[in-house]
Amino acid sequence: IRTQVGIVGAGPAGLMLSHLLARSGIDSVVIEKRTRTQIEETIRAGILEAGSVRLLVDSGVSRRVLDEGDEHEGVELRFSGEGHRIDFQDLVGESVWLYPQTEVFIDLADARERDDGDVRFSVTDTSVTDVLGSPRIQFTDTEGMAHEIECDFVVGADGSRSICRQLIPAGERTDNFREYPFAWFGILTEAPPSAPELIYAHSDRGFALISQRTETVQRMYFQCDPTEDASAWSEARIWEELQARVAGNGFSLKEGPIFDQMVLPFRSYVCEPMRYGNLFLAGDAAHTVPPTGAKGLNLALNDMRVLHLALAEFYATGSQRELDAYSERALNRVWKSQNFSYWMTTLLHTMPAASDFDNRRQLAELNSIVTSRAGSTYLAEAYTGWPQN
Ligand code: DHB
Repeated sequence: IRTQVGIVGAGPAGLMLSHLLARSGIDSVVIEKRTRTQIEETIRAGILEAGSVRLLVDSGVSRRVLDEGDEHEGVELRFSGEGHRIDFQDLVGESVWLYPQTEVFIDLADARERDDGDVRFSVTDTSVTDVLGSPRIQFTDTEGMAHEIECDFVVGADGSRSICRQLIPAGERTDNFREYPFAWFGILTEAPPSAPELIYAHSDRGFALISQRTETVQRMYFQCDPTEDASAWSEARIWEELQARVAGNGFSLKEGPIFDQMVLPFRSYVCEPMRYGNLFLAGDAAHTVPPTGAKGLNLALNDMRVLHLALAEFYATGSQRELDAYSERALNRVWKSQNFSYWMTTLLHTMPAASDFDNRRQLAELNSIVTSRAGSTYLAEAYTGWPQN
């Protein structure tokens, strides 16, 4: 198989790039080890920055995000038993959209199918070679037949356990890691929304996030120990914990049957640089953010927006200039998002050994945010997404 750009990974990142390249007349082949159904059934975050929505709409991937997604003009910060609204529209004139990642994936997979894109799911034995010269990707298809893709560039969009990342020799890359002493307990429940917008709650018992999916399905999370066994929790115990973390002012959550419960990993990671020879990394393959603030998918889409422009310039003019700038341009936003996700996390979560001082200081920081336009504007700007560079 001969193509211009070989893409490893058909999650939202890989499909987005393949779609954008096709619109610029550039060929790509995407391979993916999971089935389409497996990806559709992976539960991920649900918030899109304004710029991510514009990319999906303007490039012809999704109208559904506008028709079925829910525009949110703010969020609530909840602490000391009271809610405080952060009004994004008033502060920065932007919104975010509640539109789950699985829907973004479905729109992208449908768009690639509609446009006859070459996307191969369920492949096995993937390997990548010669990334410093003329790259090749080897894989076995669902019939057990071995193939090789010859391409000009390989894009590693193969998630946090990326095999492509391993092709950058240890001496040529820096792995920036941060672990956190907690995780999230996430649930899906069949219940009506408890509030019109998302609630990020600080409490004596730790963080909780009240998010949404549809009129009848809600997504909620609470901070837990990373070794917590999700299946050991009864529905009654989960609701008691969630209710306790948002209590105050007569507010309570609307409860319903819980049909999914799991503990989510929690860490920060950045691989630098995001390029090695003719290999480019993007999305989770290059970086992981803690979930607070929902930046993961948004960063992946931005990587692909930037990488597409660089590849399009190369194929139009032969110039490597934009390709050379890719890593630095992408990392600029990656690190800003790392900082924002870290900041949101430490603002709202309770450290295992937190003292009264730590708790009072956190409450003072929250108070500084909600009582000041200057204080809340950073949150609004970062949450809705900085202007694109
Ligand atoms: C969701 C997840 C997040 O991490 C977040 O900050 C907001 C929303 C969600 O799954 O809906």
